Amino acid sequence: MNVHMPVPPTVVAVGEVFDDALRCARGAGLRVPAVVRFGPGVVGELGAVVRQLVAEVTDEVLVVGGWAVRDSGERARWAERFGRSVAILEIHGEPDCTAINEAAARARRLAPRLVVGIGGGSAMDAAKAVAAMARHDGRIEEYLEGAEPRRALDRTPLPLVAVPTTAGTGAEMTRNAVIGWTERRVKRSLRDDRLVPAVALIDPEFTYELPAAPTLWSGLDALTQLIEVCISRRATAATTELALRVIGWIRWALPACLERPRDGRARAAMSAAASLSGVCLANAGLAMAHGIAAALGAIRPIPHGLACGLLLPHTLRYNREAAAPALARVMAAWLGQPESGEAVIDRGLADLDAWYRRLDVPGDLRAYGISAAELERVAEGSLGRSMEGNPVPMTADAVRAFLQPLL
Ligand SMILES: [Fe+2]
Repeated sequence: MNVHMPVPPTVVAVGEVFDDALRCARGAGLRVPAVVRFGPGVVGELGAVVRQLVAEVTDEVLVVGGWAVRDSGERARWAERFGRSVAILEIHGEPDCTAINEAAARARRLAPRLVVGIGGGSAMDAAKAVAAMARHDGRIEEYLEGAEPRRALDRTPLPLVAVPTTAGTGAEMTRNAVIGWTERRVKRSLRDDRLVPAVALIDPEFTYELPAAPTLWSGLDALTQLIEVCISRRATAATTELALRVIGWIRWALPACLERPRDGRARAAMSAAASLSGVCLANAGLAMAHGIAAALGAIRPIPHGLACGLLLPHTLRYNREAAAPALARVMAAWLGQPESGEAVIDRGLADLDAWYRRLDVPGDLRAYGISAAELERVAEGSLGRSMEGNPVPMTADAVRAFLQPLL
């Protein structure tokens, strides 16, 4: 196996690649936030950004997030930082309909002018859903994909400033919010072009203190997203080109983040790769690892990134034939080698297996003790939008057969 690792780019070089990738994305007409700032320390611009978007001192700013919001201090400190009136809404864990409906009721009473979302992917999803539901009546269930009939967002959501504190989902760049549909025990998206945040401030320094487990899980989410956008039936030339630029970064950067949590180059590379994975998925589609992960996450508290990452190598082998040309490009980018058809796929998959062993990623779902009845629910629940992009067309029967050896 080739264990060669390239010399990591400097933090400045990572920022340059990121900015250039965004320029290309905009040039290709991809949806991205109007303002994106990337680099260590950019969170220092948050106060000025808020003041620019909210003119009146008395106007309310709603800060939505999880632990990151609590750790950043009291309401008075936020108010001082923004020079505006501030309300705080804490939502912990992956948001479900109950949490969003409660938060939305409070947000409607507060009538804020702006939402600031701070945290990981879950906080970002919650912030987007609150920004939309603050301006709509009814329950979020009525607006989610899969609702029949589904209500469209007929008002523009509140503007959102997204400040990610993990490097994974890239939700600061996307136009959907993933919500746990409590009654149906599935996860579904609230999706609208106007849910793309107005501003994304991506500061890799936030991730320096991120513990090893969420670092790994969120990193695996970014990797799965970057690979799935390339092999998806919804892949586009522009998103694939973007993803291929940074897939190889994850191969050296994620192990480095785990071994040296304050490695500025590695953290910057992961933050950039994660945000670009968000641009890609918002403008293309995903595949079966995400389809199944969404269904698994609705029946077990298995972190999204871990579910995606665990499934990824299995799904790549499953799709190998149907996705061969795209997979060869992905694996060449992963290895940093020239493309060479089938051989590079073999080398890439073997390398990915070894990389997984080094990072101690579980190889199956045995630890979760999933019953036959639950397998049924996962098979049915996985057939959402991501699954529609899978290279091999999938049915519930096919998902069941795929998962059986992993249980
Ligand atoms: Fe994901």
